Amino acid sequence: MNTVGTSKHVNKTGKTILVTGGSGYIGSHTVVNLLEKGFRVISLDNYDNSHKWINNRILEIAGNEAKVHFHDVDICEKQKLRKIFEKYPEISGIIHFAAHKAVGESVENPLKYYDNNLNGLISILQMAAKFQVPNFIFSSSCTVYGNVDKLPVTESTPLQTAESPYGATKVMGERIVTDFVHATPIAKAVLLRYFNPAGAHSSALIGELPQNKPANLVPVITAVASGKMDCLTVFGTDYDTRDGSCVRDYIHVSDLAEAHTLAMQALLNGKLNRVEVFNLGIGQGATVLEAIKAFEKVSGKKLNYALGQRRKGDVVAIYADYQKAQKVLGWSPIFNMEDIMRTAWEWEKQLDNDNYFTSGRQ
Ligand SMILES: NC(=O)c1ccc[n+]([C@@H]2O[C@H](COP(=O)([O-])OP(=O)(O)OC[C@H]3O[C@@H](n4cnc5c(N)ncnc54)[C@H](O)[C@@H]3O)[C@@H](O)[C@H]2O)c1
Repeated sequence: MNTVGTSKHVNKTGKTILVTGGSGYIGSHTVVNLLEKGFRVISLDNYDNSHKWINNRILEIAGNEAKVHFHDVDICEKQKLRKIFEKYPEISGIIHFAAHKAVGESVENPLKYYDNNLNGLISILQMAAKFQVPNFIFSSSCTVYGNVDKLPVTESTPLQTAESPYGATKVMGERIVTDFVHATPIAKAVLLRYFNPAGAHSSALIGELPQNKPANLVPVITAVASGKMDCLTVFGTDYDTRDGSCVRDYIHVSDLAEAHTLAMQALLNGKLNRVEVFNLGIGQGATVLEAIKAFEKVSGKKLNYALGQRRKGDVVAIYADYQKAQKVLGWSPIFNMEDIMRTAWEWEKQLDNDNYFTSGRQ
């Protein structure tokens, strides 16, 4: 299996990047990747969906305390955010992950999502303008494409009306960033549309941290395999796909992290148009049943699963055309489905060893 941190793209200038949501799932892997490539990092998080001990793990993997500063800041609190920008006038780029991300919760509590995801974004863009930070990367999602007619999905596939408030914050977020760039002469932005992020760092020191009952396929698989959940239900086995179950494009979180670093390097090198959009997926869909088989193969465990009815609102199949990221950023995913399952399983076992689930570790 490949490991991250071996890329030839090393940043020798020691530029400083501000990362919001830097202790979260994708943020922590990206902070590791940035540090390994020689960037300095200012990482902000309010630990709403993450833990401070993740920062020690980041240091354990990437070393060098002098190069990273962690701050407990809610980015919606503008006074506190302004102090960060005053303290670090050397910031040359921003990677903005901080947001709530649970689709179901967003339907039940839409204002929580519009409030945090949109106000957080506006507040960080206002600081970018005030402190003249030109380079901005926004975490978007393939959810902006909705239920597509044609596969694979390219960046020019038309966007659809969002089905959830969470999805709406991504569609609106993209629009807000685009309008901001067009109105701000020095600004440039990259919108990264992730497909299905999964897996964990190959060290098993950082990964996705379930705060509530997991909802995404890979964390559910590892939760069932470790006995935290009884059974996985495969929602729908009569779709028009290879084996009747839904198809998704699972992308390893370390591949995603690498794409953020490459996108930031391209922005800093002035190689991109004012606003660029990139799909980040591996370009191949895996069915739910194939994902289960991949897990069983790498773990040697038989998974308890049941075949169930279709679930309302599920997209049948979606996977990315990532040629643009390949051509423009020089990015290609290196991890496959088995790597995703192996690293996710190692991470789950590591959390069990640490008694994370039983001790309510904070
Ligand atoms: N994980 C996915 O499946 C996925 C898919 C597509 C897009 N995304 C987007 O990628 C980004 C990162 O997702 P993730 O999976 O790492 O989620 P995550 O919840 O693990 O990380 C988000 C981090 O942001 C922090 N945060 C939230 N609101 C904040 C605020 N107001 N101030 C400071 N910190 C705040 C949380 O505490 C958390 O640590 C999000 O914008 C998400 O919508 C995620």
